[in-house]
Amino acid sequence: MSNDKPPSPDERLQQEFNRWAGEGEGEKMERHHLDITEKTMRRMDLRPGERILDLGCGSGWATRLLARMVSEGPQGFGQVVGVDISDEMVRQARAASRDFENVMFVVGSAAQIPWEENFFDKVLSVESFYYYPDQDRALAELFRVMAPRGRLFILINLYKDNPYSLHWVPKLKVPVHVRSAAEYVELLKKHAFENVEYCQIPDDTPTPDNYQTTSFHSLDDLKAFKRVGALLLMASKPDLRNPAPGYTIY
Ligand SMILES: C[S@@+](CC[C@H](N)C(=O)[O-])C[C@H]1O[C@@H](n2cnc3c(N)ncnc32)[C@H](O)[C@@H]1O
Repeated sequence: MSNDKPPSPDERLQQEFNRWAGEGEGEKMERHHLDITEKTMRRMDLRPGERILDLGCGSGWATRLLARMVSEGPQGFGQVVGVDISDEMVRQARAASRDFENVMFVVGSAAQIPWEENFFDKVLSVESFYYYPDQDRALAELFRVMAPRGRLFILINLYKDNPYSLHWVPKLKVPVHVRSAAEYVELLKKHAFENVEYCQIPDDTPTPDNYQTTSFHSLDDLKAFKRVGALLLMASKPDLRNPAPGYTIY
C-alpha cells in the first residue's frame, strides 16, 4: 500500500504555478494584465513612502511598477513586498528585481501571509484571488496585515458577470472560485471591510486579427471579454484605534 499523501490545495497551487513559471507564463502575464493593472494603479493614489503588498505577485512585474511609484519622497522611502505561493515565480521575481532597493519577495500562502499585522498601507492582488482555496481565510489574513485605514484592491478577470471569462474554467488544472461582483462585495463586508465597492475595468489593448486564442471559443469572444473587463474590488480596513462614536468594541 502506498502512503503517498495527496497534495494539499496549497501544494497543488504551488506545483501548478511552478509549472507556469517554468513555461515562461510569468512574463507573458505582464502583457495580458498590464492595461487593467495600470488602470487599477491609477485608482490606488500611490504616494512615496507607502508600504504596499502585492499578493500573488507572480514574476513581480507589477511589484516593480509599484516600487517605482512609492520610492523616495518627502514622506520617506516606500517598500513593496511581493508574496507568492510559487517558489519558482518568486525566484524569477527576485532575479528580475536586483536593481530595486525597496522590493522584497517572499514565498507564502494567502492563507498565512508571512508578515506582521497592521503593516501595509495598500494591497494589490492581480488575477490571483479566485485561486485561493479558502477565500475567507485569505480576507482575514489581509485584514490582519493591513494598516488601519489601509486600502485593498483586488483585480480579477474570472467572475460570473463576465460570462466570456467562464470559457477557460474547464481548461484550468486547479479548482477556482466563480463568484459575482455582488457576492464578493458581501464577502468583503462579512470580514468587516468598509467602503466596499467595485467597478469593471475594460482591457483596451488591441486584439490583432491573426491572434491565436486557445482560451476562448473565438476572437469575437476574446474581444467581448476584454470589453466587459475585469472586476476591481476595493475596500478599506476600518481604524479601530479611534472608534467613531457609536462603535462599541468589546
Ligand atoms: C494568474 S497568476 C498572476 C500573477 C501576477 N499577479 C500577474 O498578474 O502576472 C496567479 C498567481 O497567484 C499565485 N497564487 C495562487 N494561489 C495562491 C495562494 N493561495 N497564495 C499566494 N499566491 C497564490 C500563483 O502562484 C500565481 O503566481
